[in-house]
Amino acid sequence: MSQDNASPAAFDGGSASSGTRYISVSNQKGGVGKTTTTVNLATALAAVGKRVLVIDLDPQGNASTGFGIDRADRANGTYEVLFEESTVDSAAVESKVPNLYVIPSSIHLSGAEIELVGAKNRENRLKNALAESKLNFDYVMFDCPPALNLLTLNAFVASTSVLVPLQCEFYALEGLSHLVKTIERVKTSFNPELELQGIVLTMYDKRNNLSNQVADDVRGFFGDKVFETVIPRNVRISEAPSFGLPAIVYDMHCIGSQAYIHLAKELLKREAKMKEDRAAAAASAVA
Ligand SMILES: Nc1ncnc2c1ncn2[C@@H]1O[C@H](COP(=O)(O)OP(=O)(O)OP(=O)(O)O)[C@@H](O)[C@H]1O
Ligand SMILES: [Mg+2]
Repeated sequence: MSQDNASPAAFDGGSASSGTRYISVSNQKGGVGKTTTTVNLATALAAVGKRVLVIDLDPQGNASTGFGIDRADRANGTYEVLFEESTVDSAAVESKVPNLYVIPSSIHLSGAEIELVGAKNRENRLKNALAESKLNFDYVMFDCPPALNLLTLNAFVASTSVLVPLQCEFYALEGLSHLVKTIERVKTSFNPELELQGIVLTMYDKRNNLSNQVADDVRGFFGDKVFETVIPRNVRISEAPSFGLPAIVYDMHCIGSQAYIHLAKELLKREAKMKEDRAAAAASAVA
């Protein structure tokens, strides 16, 4: 049943790098920009030379479509990895973006949620599969479905952090406290490393008072967990998936693509700072 999608030999570093960052892009609210953020942030990180793997955990398969992965190349995907019919390394498909691989959402993924309920190690399946990988990625990003279900739980258990896209609209904050509590619960029960990477404001319209009010409220509550970079509403971003291209490849100069490039820079800067802080704390603990 298992079949090789591609052979990302150039990435074969012998073993997974201990510095790999595993980022779940999640919000149980639908249509808030999770997939758009996954696809474009992953592309921007690959563009600066990071080796990136995107795992499409949504049966809708929008991230796979957004990268232009042919239906014919989706037979071997996330479902097969979860149920040990394939490995991470053989399911990874080369995308059109250099340095960037995708494990697509295969048609079977829509049944996975129910099948996982009675499965052994049901929360750890993705983590265990990734632990077997010989590929050496800097970033593994999970495009989560719009639900806090077992697929999302598999992503959280396998992740170092959760990135939450938040649409600047009425009801944006609804459900956010539940999501934050879920992250805390996963941290306590399954994965002590897990943290909230941050909140990204999406589909922002500066002429709309509501957009500004939502942005102010979220910043007031979550402080510097909210990325300074804001993703504006931009028609080029919504056009790109129908061409099977990330917006950054479709039109690098549009304001939406530029915002995602900024977001990638901000994320890298924040991670470098976090690393420095951790090293300083470790050094002072030794002294
Ligand atoms: N900044 C933006 N400007 C304009 N349109 C956008 C923007 N971001 C996302 N969209 C559009 O909004 C819709 C929802 O975006 P997206 O699919 O990324 O959300 P999602 O959270 O992944 O949805 P789902 O919950 O269904 O998985 C899509 O049609 C997308 O093209
Ligand atoms: Mg999506």
